[in-house]
Amino acid sequence: MSNYFEILCGVVALLLAVYYYATSTFDFWKNRGVVGPKPLPFVGNIKEILFARKSIAEYAREIYIAYKNEPMVGLYARRSPLLLLRDPELIKDVLIRHFPNFADRGTTINEKVEPLAMNLFFLEAERWRPLRNRLSPMFSSGKLREMFYLIVECSQHLEKHLEKNVGRKGIIECQELAAKYTTDVIGTCAFGIEISALENEDSEFHKIGKEVFAVNLRNIVHQKLKEFVPMLYHLLGLLPPPNFVLAFMKLVSETMKYKRENNIARPDFMKLLMDLQKNPDKLQNIEFTDTMLMAQLAVFFAAGFLAPSMAISNALYELALNHDIQDKLHEEIEEFFANDGELKFDDIKRMKYLDKVFKETLRMHPAGSVLRRRAQSNYTFNGTKVSIHKGMMIWIPLYGIHYDPDIYPNPKKFDPERFNEDAVAARHRMHYLPFGDGPRNCIGGRFGVSMTKVGLITILRNYKVDICDKTIPYEIDSASALPIPKGGTYLKMTKIPRQ
Ligand code: HEM
Repeated sequence: MSNYFEILCGVVALLLAVYYYATSTFDFWKNRGVVGPKPLPFVGNIKEILFARKSIAEYAREIYIAYKNEPMVGLYARRSPLLLLRDPELIKDVLIRHFPNFADRGTTINEKVEPLAMNLFFLEAERWRPLRNRLSPMFSSGKLREMFYLIVECSQHLEKHLEKNVGRKGIIECQELAAKYTTDVIGTCAFGIEISALENEDSEFHKIGKEVFAVNLRNIVHQKLKEFVPMLYHLLGLLPPPNFVLAFMKLVSETMKYKRENNIARPDFMKLLMDLQKNPDKLQNIEFTDTMLMAQLAVFFAAGFLAPSMAISNALYELALNHDIQDKLHEEIEEFFANDGELKFDDIKRMKYLDKVFKETLRMHPAGSVLRRRAQSNYTFNGTKVSIHKGMMIWIPLYGIHYDPDIYPNPKKFDPERFNEDAVAARHRMHYLPFGDGPRNCIGGRFGVSMTKVGLITILRNYKVDICDKTIPYEIDSASALPIPKGGTYLKMTKIPRQ
């Protein structure tokens, strides 16, 4: 009997110890006078995110709105304090003014689980800095100008593809369409190869791209563990990398081998990275191995095809709902072609209305949910007594800011006029962050803008887009790592007759 009692006492003591461990940090924000929702043992404030019932984008938006008058909101990711920033000046401190103290995104990476995660997006500050310095010139205006004709070539394939595939009913799933076009652009600009995802249903690169962001059990578990349960994520290192990673590495190393053996000197990203590998000075202590090189190509491929393809399909969706805006944009495109006849790099900038439509699309549908930064050392926020520790995570909630009715009245309305010059000048710079900001902003923004705009021009010059029976009202997929809409973007396309 006394044995049972001792076991029971032991179990109770163990449970109490576990409970204490799980909740022992929960007075962190209270002690600093930072308000926030009440955390729960073991899950903190992220239960709905952990169980894929709410996307990070949506959750962070709700918190941003619920704490309307606060400069910051204290949360717990399981038991770790996590700070959501609202005040634009504090956001500017983190992204720009005090950037050296927030130079990484705090993502856990394990080379065994993800050999391709050693890339610019995920690398910690120390290796990121010299690499970013060396990679930035690849995305300069000059380089983009050199590559622009390649984007135009892909848009011609897109035009042909539409002619062939917009049948009598004209219903097209626009996420897939846009992803095929942007995959072709990345293929030719980054790898120097024709991927032909638009023409070839079996394109290996397109299949890989679909798998990287697919909402399936493996990806959901992987992403949640990586962000919120790093210990279990590291255990995954015992498993081999998924097939699509191996397929990507095989495709890229074959292409590199071919280029090396045949001395092919086309100025694509792969070539520029191979030159960097031969000439690694200024990369300090980074060993720029083939895997490291492939990791950079992998992030250019993944970020470069997905974000612009989302921007294209989201813009088409909003234009299908707003015919007056679509008509006005169509007029601008027609006028442009009547005067110029062909697309050139500098000319795109002259399409002012297209620019506003593009910016409003990214306001309503930014490609990231939150911008993430991790403190590199203890830090006290300017003008406050709030101190955080080295290693603590910060979230900047893009959907909260972009849907704040005090910044963007009637925020669910698609209104490109929010981006006329006066309106932009009147807004705080930190109130529009689709490409992030500061030294760790999007490196490929300019490139993304060009391929998105060229894709949109090609489609809207030739087709009117409309909603149809198959159109699904926009709702972010709660299980997806990125704010991608559920169930595809089905729209009806009708050919515009040429006069
Ligand atoms: C419409 C197009 C795009 C959007 C909306 C977009 C958005 C973003 C955002 C929000 C970030 C995080 C910035 C931050 O934390 O401050 C980012 C980072 C990044 N993006 Fe993009 N992106 C786009 C296109 C591209 C393209 C075309 C490429 C490459 C070919 C690219 C490559 C990257 C990389 C490598 C990073 C990490 C940069 C670093 O940590 O130094 N993106 N992007």
